[in-house]
Amino acid sequence: MEQNISKNAEKTNVFVYVIAAIAALAGLLFGYDTGVISGAILFIKDQFALSPLLEGMVVSAVLLGAVIGAASSGQLSDRFGRRRVLIATAIIFTLGSIGTAMAPTVAFLIMGRVVLGLAIGVASFAAPLYISEISPIHIRGALVSLNQLAITCGIVLSYVVDYSFAGGQSWRWMFAIGVLPAVTLWIGMIFLPPSPRWLMSRSLADKAREVLSRVRGTSDVSEELTAIQATLREESGGWKELFQPWLRLPLFIGLILGLFQQITGINVVIYYAPTIFEFAGFTSAAVAILATAGVGIVNVLMTIVAIKLVDRVGRRPLLAVGLIGMAISLSVLGFAFSLPTLTEALKWIAVGSLMLYVASFAISLGPIFWLIIAEIYPLKIRGRAMSLATMFSWICNLAVALTFLILIQKLGRAGTFWMYGAICIAGWFFCYFFVPETKGRSLEEIEEHWHSGKSPRELGK
Ligand code: BGC
Repeated sequence: MEQNISKNAEKTNVFVYVIAAIAALAGLLFGYDTGVISGAILFIKDQFALSPLLEGMVVSAVLLGAVIGAASSGQLSDRFGRRRVLIATAIIFTLGSIGTAMAPTVAFLIMGRVVLGLAIGVASFAAPLYISEISPIHIRGALVSLNQLAITCGIVLSYVVDYSFAGGQSWRWMFAIGVLPAVTLWIGMIFLPPSPRWLMSRSLADKAREVLSRVRGTSDVSEELTAIQATLREESGGWKELFQPWLRLPLFIGLILGLFQQITGINVVIYYAPTIFEFAGFTSAAVAILATAGVGIVNVLMTIVAIKLVDRVGRRPLLAVGLIGMAISLSVLGFAFSLPTLTEALKWIAVGSLMLYVASFAISLGPIFWLIIAEIYPLKIRGRAMSLATMFSWICNLAVALTFLILIQKLGRAGTFWMYGAICIAGWFFCYFFVPETKGRSLEEIEEHWHSGKSPRELGK
C-alpha cells in the first residue's frame, strides 16, 4: 500500500501542488483575519473608548459575517463554480482589509469586520471544496489539509504581526497587512483552472477533459471522467436533492462533525489562551504572549503531522486518537483547576495539557472536519451541502465564544473544562459510529456508497 502511495506520488504532477497551495491562501486569510483581532482590540478599545458591549461586537462581528457568508454562498459555488467564488472571496478579503484598516468610526469598523467575516465564511468551505475536486485520490487528504495548515499559519502570522506593531499601537497596520495575501489569492486564482468536476456538472465535458489532463499531467483521463459522468446521471441537483432520504445521513454527519469541531472547545483556547494562562497563575503578560505563541506553533506543527498521516493511516484512526488526547488533556486541565492552589508544578501541568489538547485537535478534528465535508457529498450539490455544514459550525463557533466566560462563572474553571472533555468523549463515539473512512476512495465511489444504503462504517471495507 505504502509503496503504491509513493509510486503514485512520484507520478503526481507538481501543478496540482501549486493549485492547492494557491487556493490554501484562502485558509491563511481565514486564520489571519480571525486571529488578528486579539492584539488589535487592545488599542482599538482605547482609541474609541469602547464599552464592553461594543468591544464584544468588534471582536465577534467576523463570526457573524462568517455565518452569513457560509449560508449564502453554497448555491453560488455550485452555479458559478468554485474558482469564480474564490476570486470573488479574494476581492471581498481585500476590500474588508482596506476598510477595517481605514475605518473612521466604530460603526464602520464593525461593518468592515462583518465584510471580512463574509469572506471567511465563504473561503472556509470553498477552498477545501476546490482542492478536493482537483486532487488525485492518493494525496487528497494531504492536499485538502494544506488549507487547515494555512489556517494555523495564518493564526500564528497574525500573532507575529500584532506583536510587531504593538509597540507603535498601530492597529490599522495589523489589518492592512491582510491585503497582501488577499491580493495574492486574487491574482493566483485568476491563473488557475476551474474544478474539472464542477465543469462536468455543468456539462462542459471537453473543457473538463482539458483541465483534468493538465492537472494529472497525462491525456489518459477517460476513466476518471467516465466515473464522474456516471454519478452525475444519478443526481438531479437542487436544494430538494439535499434532503432526499439517501443524503440524510451524510448531511447529518457533516453537521454533527462541525458541531463537535467547535463545541469541544478549540476556540476557547485559540481566543482566550492568555486568560486561561492567567487562570493557571501566570501573571506576567510576556509569559502569556509566549505561551499563546507556543499554542499557535504546536497547532501548526501537529497539522503537518496530520498531513503526513491522513492518507496513510486514514481519517478515522486520527479522529479516534485525537479525540482521546483531547478528552485526557481537558480532564487533566480541569483537575489542575479543581485544586485550591496551583503549585509551580501544577502550573506547568496546566500548560502541558493545553498543548496536548491543541496537538490532539490538530491531528484530528482540525483538518478532518473540513476534509470529510469536502468528500462526502454528491457533486451537483456539494457546494450547498458544504455551505450548510460550514454555516452550522460557524454558529457553534459563535456560541462557544459567547458562552465561555459565562460557563466559567456558572460551572467554575474545572467544571467548564471537564464539560468540554465529556463532549470529546461523545464526539469519539459519534466518529466511531458515523464517520466513514474515505481514504483511498474516489469522490464518486463515496457517492455510490450512499446510494447503496450501507452504513458509513462499511465504506472502505
Ligand atoms: C477551525 C477553527 C479553529 C482553527 C484552529 C479550524 O479548523 O474551524 O475554528 O480556530 O481550526 O486551528
